[in-house]
Amino acid sequence: MTAAATVARAGDPTSLVGRTVHVKVPATSANLGPGFDTLGLALARYDELEVSATDAPRHEIEVHGVGEGQVPLDESHLVVRAIAHAFARVGVEMPRLRLVAHNSIPHGRGLGSSGAAIVAGVMAAKGLLDGIVEFTPDELLELATELEGHPDNVAPALFGGLTIAWMTPEGPRHKKLIVHRGVSPLVLVPEHEMSTALARSLQPESVPHSDAVFNVSRSALLIAALIQSPELLLQATEDKLHQHYRAQAMPETDRLIRALREAKHPAVVSGAGPSILVLASDPSERADAVRVVEASADTAWQALPLAVDFKGATVTIVSEPER
Ligand code: HSE
Repeated sequence: MTAAATVARAGDPTSLVGRTVHVKVPATSANLGPGFDTLGLALARYDELEVSATDAPRHEIEVHGVGEGQVPLDESHLVVRAIAHAFARVGVEMPRLRLVAHNSIPHGRGLGSSGAAIVAGVMAAKGLLDGIVEFTPDELLELATELEGHPDNVAPALFGGLTIAWMTPEGPRHKKLIVHRGVSPLVLVPEHEMSTALARSLQPESVPHSDAVFNVSRSALLIAALIQSPELLLQATEDKLHQHYRAQAMPETDRLIRALREAKHPAVVSGAGPSILVLASDPSERADAVRVVEASADTAWQALPLAVDFKGATVTIVSEPER
């Protein structure tokens, strides 16, 4: 977060008034089976926002699509909180904002909607501060992880593709990888939600050493399977660190994953659930998985065939202040 000499001038929030930025952020699926709090995949379903710096007396917030009529329309809105966090970290006073969101990432389903909102805020701040403060990729990840608590959703939302994210004493770091072109994700979304906090509360403090070794082997294999050898995805998505501890809180998810895996489809809980991610090796396997869902599900599931997003979050300046 290298503040240029112009920050002192920009400390006056009125100097930003009139700038509008457009932000687009993909959905994400975290964990991918064995890669708890580490692996994540960006998916081609997006929240889009326009954010303007204004001199209005208060923030003006409009939400369309997912979350409309449900999320707060004041400074407690997660995107506004993330913008405020970024401005505070670089010591620039945040102007009043006009924010118009068009959301399509389902909330509370394990598809990274909170991570996407945080990344949207961080990217909006980057756009609003463009030419005044520069942010490195590591700094964007750090700002987003500070709010999200773990980096596995915010890394793919920021950078796209498959990401490995890890924590260091200097902050979170990531490596982006390009997924094999055969990999054909299918996301199954139930009608009910699941709280990430509840899911995390079901995790034990410690796990057997043999389970840790099991997950180390599968996580390493999963990288090879996703970038080079999709035929290994069924074995590579096995996990002993989180899914069975959480199964009691999402029995429908657990049942459907068992049915899909028995039919040889690499199905895992998406993030903290309750959605399911099937990492099919090709589009025809994905169609077979949909048939398993139709035959075995005891509740309604929305089947979303989603491409991998390779680009990650984008921000563009739509208009500039009049000088
Ligand atoms: N790794 C996180 C979890 C993802 O499973 O709790 C959801 O935020």
